[in-house]
Amino acid sequence: MTRSEILAPLSGDGSVAAASPETDAAELLSPDPLPADRLGEAALRPRSLPEFVGQSELKGHLDVLLGAARKRREPVDHLLFAGPPGLGKTTLAHIVANELDAHLQTTSGPAVERAGDLAAMLTKIEPGDVLFIDEIHRLPRPVEEVLYPAMEDFRIDIVLGKGPAARSIPLDLAPFTLVGATTRTGLITGPLRDRFGLVARLDFYTADDLVSIVERTAGILDVTIDTGGAAEIANRARGTPRIANRLLRQVRDFSEVHRDGRIDSAVAADGLDFFGVDELGLDRATRAVLEALCRNFGGGPVGLSTLAIAVSEPTETVEDVYEPYLIQQGLLMRTPRGRVATSAAWVHLGLEAPQSDPDTQPGLFA
Ligand SMILES: Nc1ncnc2c1ncn2[C@@H]1O[C@H](COP(=O)(O)OP(=O)(O)OP(=O)(O)O)[C@@H](O)[C@H]1O
Ligand SMILES: [Mg+2]
Repeated sequence: MTRSEILAPLSGDGSVAAASPETDAAELLSPDPLPADRLGEAALRPRSLPEFVGQSELKGHLDVLLGAARKRREPVDHLLFAGPPGLGKTTLAHIVANELDAHLQTTSGPAVERAGDLAAMLTKIEPGDVLFIDEIHRLPRPVEEVLYPAMEDFRIDIVLGKGPAARSIPLDLAPFTLVGATTRTGLITGPLRDRFGLVARLDFYTADDLVSIVERTAGILDVTIDTGGAAEIANRARGTPRIANRLLRQVRDFSEVHRDGRIDSAVAADGLDFFGVDELGLDRATRAVLEALCRNFGGGPVGLSTLAIAVSEPTETVEDVYEPYLIQQGLLMRTPRGRVATSAAWVHLGLEAPQSDPDTQPGLFA
């Protein structure tokens, strides 16, 4: 079924409103941000729901929502995808638009500075379009408030004039689907969150799913890899497809230069060691966080900002990028008093853990 069939009016003369030139919307919406080092990522993106590996519960929910919306010839309810970087939020936004045969308009929270910018985008939307707002938790509050009536009633209020003479004129919008992505569910305000029909959390992927992802990507990149090689990469990919794909590319390069170009488990292990990715999949930067915690602060508790300064990274990066996997692996804990290394962390780093909490250590004040 095509997009215009889905959205064609069910009554009347059956005509579909003439589409305005695509360039109109493109002028207002920032292009999909694809820095050079991620150009390859777009080519690896699954384009349909069946191609999307893992996350079976979420896929099941989406399948029902998309199928029902298609049947009713209505836009799909607004969707929010939350989860750590690289798990497939942007990919899912593209898939939703693809599966609905709808246009995807892309922007991101920090790119929309003023309420007027968002209003301009919304008025350019055509019936059934999917509007994807990445990092939606970073929308300024006045901009977010424009979204509320737009999401709920497909309406915005345009304010004309200033001061006491100001008038607010409601403006109808074309029905659309908002897809939001966020790495920080905690920062999404209640009113915004409540307006999504589905709030979906993406989980880290299982090793089996990652093996499938590595094999799929190897196929696209035309790399020869056996199951052992894919498993070695999957095991060190921190549950994250983007990392799995990156490690595969690194190991491929390693094999092309130092081996025969093919990848088996031994080549994968050597390549990953070469690039400083350890057996748990911690890269140098993530390991540095754990090492700072253990070596500089005796395993904690230490505040997030102190830890971030110690590794010269923004607190947000430490919190969103490095910590989730350390926590998931049981290497680090967030406590009310600060970050604490677990005994597994000391073992993993090959360091001797202090006997007990330094605060209560006997003999300290003796
Ligand atoms: N389920 C999946 N199956 C296959 N490949 C996947 C899957 N999820 C993600 N990928 C791959 O991982 C890469 C990163 O995914 P994506 O850009 O969608 O992540 P993201 O959640 O939007 O990350 P960020 O928060 O950094 O924007 C994609 O290029 C895609 O190839
Ligand atoms: Mg993304």
